[in-house]
This record gives sequence, C-alpha cells and structure tokens, in this order.
Amino acid sequence: AFTDTVAKAAGKLYFGSATDNPELPNAEYVAILDQNAYFGQITPGNSMKWDATEPEQGVFTFSGGQQIVSLAQANNQLIRGHNCVWYNQLPSWVEDGTFTVAELTEIIQTHCGTLVGNWKGQIYAWDIINEPFNDDGTWRSDVFFDTLGESFIPIALEAAAAADPNAKLYINDYNIESAGAKSAAMMELVQTLKANGTPIDGIGFESHFIVGEVPTDIQATMEAFVALGVEVAVTELDVRMTLPETAALLEQQQKDYQTVVSACNAVPGCVGVTIWDYTDLYSWIPGTFPGQGAACPWDANFVKKPAYDGIIAGF
Ligand code: XIL
Repeated sequence: AFTDTVAKAAGKLYFGSATDNPELPNAEYVAILDQNAYFGQITPGNSMKWDATEPEQGVFTFSGGQQIVSLAQANNQLIRGHNCVWYNQLPSWVEDGTFTVAELTEIIQTHCGTLVGNWKGQIYAWDIINEPFNDDGTWRSDVFFDTLGESFIPIALEAAAAADPNAKLYINDYNIESAGAKSAAMMELVQTLKANGTPIDGIGFESHFIVGEVPTDIQATMEAFVALGVEVAVTELDVRMTLPETAALLEQQQKDYQTVVSACNAVPGCVGVTIWDYTDLYSWIPGTFPGQGAACPWDANFVKKPAYDGIIAGF
C-alpha cells in the first residue's frame, strides 16, 4: 500500500513530505519523492524561509522555492508554503535591526505579500506564522513581538490573505499537540483572531516527537482546535530516538507513527499529515539533537522501516 493513496481513501487531502534543494541531485531520493502515490504534498524545508527569500531588504530570490514548486507541480503534488514570519533563519538585516512600529509593519507586509503573492494560486496552505510561543505559553521574545506586540500576527495574516485569497493561512508550532499552557495560548490566539475577523484557516501541529512519547491526547487536542473553527494538519512529523536504533525502538516507533496518523484520521478537520522528510539520510534530527536520529519512515538506504506500516495502519 502507498501512503498518499491510503490517506486519500480515508478522506484526507494528502500524505506529504518535506524536502530540500540540496537533496534533489540524488536521483534515488527523487525517484521516491516524485511518486505521488507516496506523497501527495511537498513542503520546502528551507528555501522559502526569510533568509533564503529576502536576504537583503527588498531583494527577493525565489529560485530555490521555485525549484521545489516546479517539482511538486510536475508530479501533481500539493504544496505547503513554509514560512513567512519566524524568529529563526532570519537575515541579519531583520534579526539585528532596530525598527519603529511603522517600519517593521511595512517590512512584514512587504515580505509576506511578496512571498505569498509570488506563488499566488499555486500553494494549498502557508505557514504564515511559525513558532510564536514559548513552551510556557508566553509570547516568544523576538524582533517581531518586541517591536509590535502580538499585532505582528494580524499584520502578517492580512498581508498574506490580500496576496493570495485562496491559500489556507496557518499558524504552525511544536509542543501544542497536547493539553497545556502552550496549546491553551494557541487556542486563545485563534479565538482572538476569529473574534477580530482576522483571516486564520489552520493550525499546524509540527509533531517532532520522541519514541514512546507521543501525547495520548493528540486527537482530543486536534478536536479542540477544530471546534474553534480552524482546520488542523500534522506538518512536520518525525519520531526520534537515542541512537543506536534497536528492533524494540523501531517497533515502538511504528506504534507512534500509527498513533499520530490515526488521530488525524479520526478527526474530520485534520486535513493531512506531512513528515519532515521521508528518509533518515536527510533528516534534520542528528544535526540538531546530537546522539539522536532514525526519526523517519525510510532508513538512510531508502528501505522502508516498520514506521511505514504504522502509517498505513493509521489511515
Ligand atoms: C529545519 C530544517 O529541516 C533544517 O534543515 C534547518 O537547518 C533548520 O530548520 N521547525 C520548523 C522547520 O518549523 O522549519 C525546521 O526545519 C524544523 C523545526
């Protein structure tokens, strides 16, 4: 069975994967990525981020993003745009800048409007806001919040909506997949945006999990967001372990993938599941969490792991 085929048969829009430009010269890698029976949706892992798309103020570079958009279009795969406003991977002119309220408002409007507008009509959903909260539910301190307070959120969402009225506009974050201060803060934000008439269509559950630690209330948390009038999606799923991998860890990982996919499957407002690349060869985990890895459903030699069967069983 194929992952996107079973996802669509279950009524979902897609099963997808992140990819990244430096991986595309690998023909063995692309041969699997290209199969839309596996992946009905693609997310560029880095090449639509601010440092990649507006490295100098007013100078936009879309070639990396376009390479991935073109690949997805050639394969009839949906695209999730990632992302407009994030504290990380900012060019230094933004990260280290000192701006008035009016200046930063205009900078956000120009960035989001130009980025989203460049692919108008071609993107299913955009992560307009990425990771706005700390784990305790307070706002993250960064150039955006420190200058504008929470108004940076509607400023970005409204600019994106004007640039592509048909793209679904998301806020994406991690550690919001269970009940707690961070998901409560995100729910309150959704309610505030809805009350103010600010465009907001979806919430992304990044879902960077650890083997054996998938939250047991992930389905209930999806339902709670959907009840507020937004869709949800699993946007960056991976399930990491402390290396070396063992048969027992891989078996638990299979269950963990199944748990996440089943939760989305059971919630009509959960539109799809995206893994944060499909092979351990290109996973971001070892580089960011030293000593951990083996987080993807395909191993580094492109062989499917037990996790793959977990995904199939979950839909
Ligand atoms: C990661 C990429 O996969 C890496 O290649 C890069 O070095 C750092 O960013 N949350 C997100 C993603 O929203 O953009 C991050 O992607 C992973 C965590």
